[in-house]
Amino acid sequence: MNAPSVQSELARQHVIDPEICIRCNTCEEMCPVKAISHDARNYVVNFEICSWCNACIGPCPTGAIDNIRNVRKDQPYSLADQLGWDVLPGFTEYDNMAVGSATTEVPDEVQRITDVATAGQGGQALAPWSASHPYVNLYGPNNPVTATVSGNYRLTAEGASSAIHHVVLDFGTTPFPVLEGQSIGIIPPGTDANGKPHLLRMYSVASPREGERPGYNNLALTVKRVTEDHDGKPSMGVCSNYVCDLKKGDQVQVTGPYGTTFLMPNHPGASIMMICTGTGSAPMRAMTERRRRRMNQKEGGELMLFFGARTREELPYLGPLQQLPKDFIDINFAFSRTPDQPKQYVQDLIRARADKVAAMLADDNCFIYICGLKGMETGVLEAFSDICRARGMDWETLRPALLKKARFHVETY
Ligand code: FAD
Ligand code: A2P
Repeated sequence: MNAPSVQSELARQHVIDPEICIRCNTCEEMCPVKAISHDARNYVVNFEICSWCNACIGPCPTGAIDNIRNVRKDQPYSLADQLGWDVLPGFTEYDNMAVGSATTEVPDEVQRITDVATAGQGGQALAPWSASHPYVNLYGPNNPVTATVSGNYRLTAEGASSAIHHVVLDFGTTPFPVLEGQSIGIIPPGTDANGKPHLLRMYSVASPREGERPGYNNLALTVKRVTEDHDGKPSMGVCSNYVCDLKKGDQVQVTGPYGTTFLMPNHPGASIMMICTGTGSAPMRAMTERRRRRMNQKEGGELMLFFGARTREELPYLGPLQQLPKDFIDINFAFSRTPDQPKQYVQDLIRARADKVAAMLADDNCFIYICGLKGMETGVLEAFSDICRARGMDWETLRPALLKKARFHVETY
């Protein structure tokens, strides 16, 4: 196969693992568009017909149905190919590529928000080669899933200048699979000034893939109550205030999940450098918690965190972070408004740890994630640039190389 010139020539193909399938016929019965059929040997999915409604995924008793391969749109696996399989075909170079223009996969409003949020990485990112495959856009604005609030507590001290909440949403029996680094959409109730339903807002998932409480179909968010706009003028954010005011038992309209690239590497030995401010800590908490829960598996790979907040009292998850073993994660807190202390930003600490940062930038096994205030991007990129220059490395050459190797991920808002 010739490599496609652009990723929009690729498509995802839903396939069934013949080694695991128990031929129970459930998927064929569930499929509303009759994309699934079988012969005496295999169950197969018709690429031309499958509409990605995922009605077959949840009921499958073995998970055989839950497989995807990236293929050229003009060369999908045919029904005859699939009927002949004893095992699934292996992954190809295409499986490491983001598929299509995401506009075809997620609502336009999500694509617009995402383009702005990821602009700082300087190009289209790929997911790390060892990332798990994400589900995207299972529920849209026209078919949101209803989640129930199972907890909402304030993370920042009462009286602190910002209120950040940890909110847990439960999806009951509705499948809502997420990976660390993905986001969800929340549709606030009511209408905007023009009488139109509010647009969704995106929030990063703050819990690991197996749930805030392992084995429960739930997830956590880290949401800051917006009370002023970016220029400091009073402005009550529609969705953030709605979410921060939610009570246990309230129901919320959720879309998503979203995000195919800001995903953590899964292979043993992979290191992760995380740089965040405020609620940008949400995906970092998810990744750290994933690693913490698997700590005894000794998968290795370093974790390094640069985390900026106004004061200690305004740093979400300070207590749990401080309890993590030093040899598990290298934590660097930057506080900008501690009385009688010089203002510190994450980029100041990145410079202070220049030797280690340079080593991690140069390490092909290290993946870098930046999330939080848009304003932080410039300072962090300048710090990287200076650190590289002082060591004979060129950041302008390194950044595209990192991007190509799926090692550099930015999500700022
Ligand atoms: P709006 O009613 O939309 O806006 C009110 C005013 O506040 C406007 O003037 C607007 O410009 C300004 N404003 C908007 N956002 C902010 C902000 N963050 N700080 C200050 N002023 C603002 N937010 C979280 O709290 N936690 C998350 O984990 C999170 N993850 C996100 C992930 C992605 C990929 C993106 C793109 C955004 C994320 N956000 C997150 C931001 C979130 O989507 C909303 O933009 C934010 O909650 C404000 O929405 P709102 O409806 O309350 O404010
Ligand atoms: P500051 O005290 O200057 O606002 P917030 O609480 O508004 O979400 O911000 C989180 C942290 O990010 C705060 O410490 C804030 O400092 C800091 N911050 C603001 N602007 C930048 C920037 N350009 N680069 C890095 N950090 C920043």
